[in-house]
Amino acid sequence: MAAVDRFFLLYREISRSCNFYIEALAIVGAWYTVRKCVSLAFDTYSMLRLHLIPKLGGEIDLVKRYGKWAVVTGSTDGIGKAYAEELAKRGINIILISRNKEKLEAVSRSISETYKVETDFIVADFSKGREPYPGIKEALKDREIGILVNNVGLFYPYPDYFTNLSEDMLWDMININIASANMMMHIVLPGMVERKKGAIVNVSSASCCQPTPMLTIYGASKLNCADVPQAIYTLVLGSKIGYAHAQATTVTKVVAKSSHYFT
Ligand SMILES: NC(=O)c1ccc[n+]([C@@H]2O[C@H](COP(=O)([O-])OP(=O)(O)OC[C@H]3O[C@@H](n4cnc5c(N)ncnc54)[C@H](OP(=O)(O)O)[C@@H]3O)[C@@H](O)[C@H]2O)c1
Repeated sequence: MAAVDRFFLLYREISRSCNFYIEALAIVGAWYTVRKCVSLAFDTYSMLRLHLIPKLGGEIDLVKRYGKWAVVTGSTDGIGKAYAEELAKRGINIILISRNKEKLEAVSRSISETYKVETDFIVADFSKGREPYPGIKEALKDREIGILVNNVGLFYPYPDYFTNLSEDMLWDMININIASANMMMHIVLPGMVERKKGAIVNVSSASCCQPTPMLTIYGASKLNCADVPQAIYTLVLGSKIGYAHAQATTVTKVVAKSSHYFT
């Protein structure tokens, strides 16, 4: 028998016994494809719900929906300042919180002149453990805070191994990235619950989505930002959860639209 015929016979025998494996692999492939399609459909729906559907319905009146005042932490620069300006543009009065009084005065004045809203500021350093919170609580006590933007955050000077981080860096990360968001929510949430409306935006990061070996504590601190509002919502409002959303991209928002929750 020619070598070609022998090979052909052998091939037929092997492929007959392989049918089972091929079918099993086809099922795995189909399952994987269905999962990917479902996840793509959910992501597309999420994207449309976040970025397109609100635009079709016209602009929401944030003052009516959440209240007159917003507090933004870390608001004299970067993303926090942009949040403060965007909210002021929508008619919300702004309370800025950062360390530097001169910068706070300048940003506060610029926002009130540009957007014709009331502004105020609190000088506070979130790296100082429990120290800033009694002052912040006192300053906010008579204000109807409708929106809290927990933006302040410390990033590594450069990615590094956990063991190379100094103790000071660890405490700063814990105090600025984790404690501040939790303490600020603890201060404003009772008022929101009482008024049955409010929104909390925790500025997180894409590095919260998976363990980040060279950004260990930063990634973990941003995961806290993303998880806690959902857990709080569950705890405070029990079965009345209507809506919770966490989106992780370069800059991540966790929006607790309390007006939905409290109905
Ligand atoms: N930038 C990005 O690409 C990026 C990506 C993902 C996530 N994020 C997150 O987005 C948030 C904002 O980032 P950013 O890059 O916009 O920050 P940024 O430009 O560095 O601004 C920091 C702001 O926080 C204030 N601040 C800093 N340390 C403070 C402290 N100890 N106590 C009180 N205020 C303090 C600063 O003002 P003073 O110096 O006057 O206090 C400033 O207003 C952070 O939570 C960050 O983790 C950023």
